[in-house]
Amino acid sequence: MSSPTVPAFTVLGTGSRAPERVVTNDELAKTVDTSDEWIHSRTGIRERRLAGDDDSITHLAVAAARAALADAGLEPAAIDLLIVATCTPDLPMPATATLVQAELGLPAATTCFDLNAACTGFVYAFDTAWALLASGRHRHALVIGAEKMSTVLDWNDRTTCVLFGDGAGAVVLGPAPAGSGIVATKLGAIPGTRDLLLIPGGGSTPLAPGAPRHLQMKGREVFKFAVRAMDEVSRELLASRGLTPADVALVVPHQANLRIIHAIAEYLGLPYDRFFANVDRYGNTSAASIPLALDEACRAGRLRRGDLVLLVAFGAGLTYGGALVRW
Ligand code: UT7
Repeated sequence: MSSPTVPAFTVLGTGSRAPERVVTNDELAKTVDTSDEWIHSRTGIRERRLAGDDDSITHLAVAAARAALADAGLEPAAIDLLIVATCTPDLPMPATATLVQAELGLPAATTCFDLNAACTGFVYAFDTAWALLASGRHRHALVIGAEKMSTVLDWNDRTTCVLFGDGAGAVVLGPAPAGSGIVATKLGAIPGTRDLLLIPGGGSTPLAPGAPRHLQMKGREVFKFAVRAMDEVSRELLASRGLTPADVALVVPHQANLRIIHAIAEYLGLPYDRFFANVDRYGNTSAASIPLALDEACRAGRLRRGDLVLLVAFGAGLTYGGALVRW
């Protein structure tokens, strides 16, 4: 029985934007009980970018999107689907995607929505965009990860505030040149893990007076989950297409902690030089981390036509997901 041919789609362009303000570990150590030695040895982070009041999510997302459109050689009018992955939107409503649409001058007929899967948000949005393109209802998608994590942190809590940063990354997806294309995606979420990583305030659930409203995390548990989930989803994705870790030319993982990235390399049996990391300079930018790293990897010449690229993430939920792309 023959199945209908689904046209191939792939990444046509990438872009990113981080706020200008660089905050080093030493600077943080002036206001919170920590040190460059502790932060760097436990996480690999040296510095992060922190947004000011002028760096809205919309502003960062638009700058990243413009760079991705220029890289793809496309005008805004070509886009008919826009997804912004974020857990720190500018406003509860309207969706950040509609604000980005207006600033970019995308057509009124563009489908625009936000998606929240925390640090896995970009991979969730990538999968969703691919499915909508493959449905034949859309032709070119902008998929953006943008976060202002600095607004949800308790700057007196050394166990969380040293880990995160702000930024945005974007990709344009569209019809793939012969031989390239998105190969497979896989998403998931573990029920009942709410309390391992959450921001308890800001939604519609009333908080008791004085209850903490900032990001809270059980770091050790999340660390163990991250390594196990990213290893498993990577293997499942590859196996679903008859591939093995050895076939992967470059892994662009969620940038949370360099020790997590080293552990996945070990679990997958891959040399560390097949991984791209920039967590040392940005910290964990949540949904922005993979597109920001992917853009830097492209600009650093780490990706060649025909390479098999693996994007893999984990985050609050607890969620996890991966995408395989033949570059
Ligand atoms: O995108 C998802 C986001 N989340 C993550 O990726 C987090 C995953 N988890 C991790 O990356 C690691 O668990 C952390 C970096 C968060 C923590 O590293 P760890 O090696 O698991 O340290 P720990 O939590 O076991 O803490 C060890 C010690 C504690 O002191 P005691 O109880 O042993 O005396 C902490 O209080 O380190 C202390 N500590 C710090 N010390 C200096 C925790 N944070 C700091 C800090 N500076 N910033």
